[in-house]
Amino acid sequence: MEKLQIKNGELGMGNGEWGIGNWEWRIAEELLSIYGSPLYVYDALSLRETIKRITQAVPYPRTQFRFASVTNGNISLLKIFRECGWGLHANTPGDIYLGLKAGFDPSEIVYSGSNLNLPEMIKILNWGITTLNLDSIAQLKLLCEIWGERSGELHLGLRLNLPEITGDSRIGVSPEDFAKAIAITSKSKLKLTGLHFYRGTGTNATKAFTQVIETVIATAQQLPDWEYLDFGGGFGYPYHHFGAAFDWEEFGAALTDSIKSLKKEIDLVIEPGRAAIAGCGILLAKVVSIKWQEEKQIVGVDTTVGNLSVPSVHGGYREIITSQLSTVNGQQSKVYTTDVCGNTTYSRDYLGKNCQLPALEIGDIIAILDVGAYGYAMSSHFLHRPRPAEVLLENNTHHLIRKREDYSTLLENQLF
Ligand SMILES: Cc1ncc(COP(=O)(O)O)c(C=O)c1O
Repeated sequence: MEKLQIKNGELGMGNGEWGIGNWEWRIAEELLSIYGSPLYVYDALSLRETIKRITQAVPYPRTQFRFASVTNGNISLLKIFRECGWGLHANTPGDIYLGLKAGFDPSEIVYSGSNLNLPEMIKILNWGITTLNLDSIAQLKLLCEIWGERSGELHLGLRLNLPEITGDSRIGVSPEDFAKAIAITSKSKLKLTGLHFYRGTGTNATKAFTQVIETVIATAQQLPDWEYLDFGGGFGYPYHHFGAAFDWEEFGAALTDSIKSLKKEIDLVIEPGRAAIAGCGILLAKVVSIKWQEEKQIVGVDTTVGNLSVPSVHGGYREIITSQLSTVNGQQSKVYTTDVCGNTTYSRDYLGKNCQLPALEIGDIIAILDVGAYGYAMSSHFLHRPRPAEVLLENNTHHLIRKREDYSTLLENQLF
């Protein structure tokens, strides 16, 4: 297998900070010729570096990082988190299932989800999950009823609902209900030892987190048996590259100071999702059609929002770069306002709108950056296009970590 040569800054991405965006297009071409197009590609080195940077930013010694696999459930990537000493945050029983398959011990998996039915609650306890942050009194009751005569360690926490911080959220339990929750758990000889807090999704405003630390800790102290704080996920990722980025060092120092000033030692859990994995993934695709509508370039590519739903469905931005050089002989080549369109007629099938790209040609490659989180995980069979393959770059080689689907996938589970 050919050795990959990754040279920083090669693609005019600036300072080389964006890792996988800085390859030579030769490698992209090689990958597409081997694995086909479109193709999700992840860079293990970049992922490991991000994990290390986040880990080092929180100096509090009793910190457990738990990767939120809702963002990406590929087993090969989950294994990298495990090798780096992180556990897993599970939003659903499916997250737990994948985590166990990736080799996590049940004790390394934190369940912080919502609305399990009876068989599901039984299942996750039978799988050996011992840390559960529940988001309603009803879920707590269900767990306590099932726990019955079981014995063993259980770290039981409540997801906090504090409208003055978390806004109008359906999720969580308000402090007024803590007494009721404690009464329910003590009937089953259990203790409420944890408070879980989730600030909000994907904000780069570090202060939005640091300013609420004291309030969250003060609320946690209302639980007489409090032993751990789970500060959730929701940490931003700088998709705009030159815009504001979440400051992990500032956040880690503030959280550490506040926890160290407590009279008791507690455990700290942090569940980063997108912040950890967004940047290591790209989606490669090929240009199949070009149209011009006056000065606007309309580029058709061989992927769709069924393969990557985030930008179109949630209005998010993902930078798109192309194999057509944006500098020629050191001169910036002319760029045009460009819509990058998917390979269906669905009215929202845009991978990017109003991008500034050079004039493209059929056969050019595009790379949609920062799709490691909520990329493949949110892809679907909507529009009936099979999903792309996934490839991991590691130790200067590439290997397939998920096969491309073919049309037969569309028949799976159909009876006719
Ligand atoms: C409880 C919890 N923790 C962590 C995450 C990960 O969020 P993010 O990717 O915004 O960090 C989620 C996302 O749904 C969540 O619900």
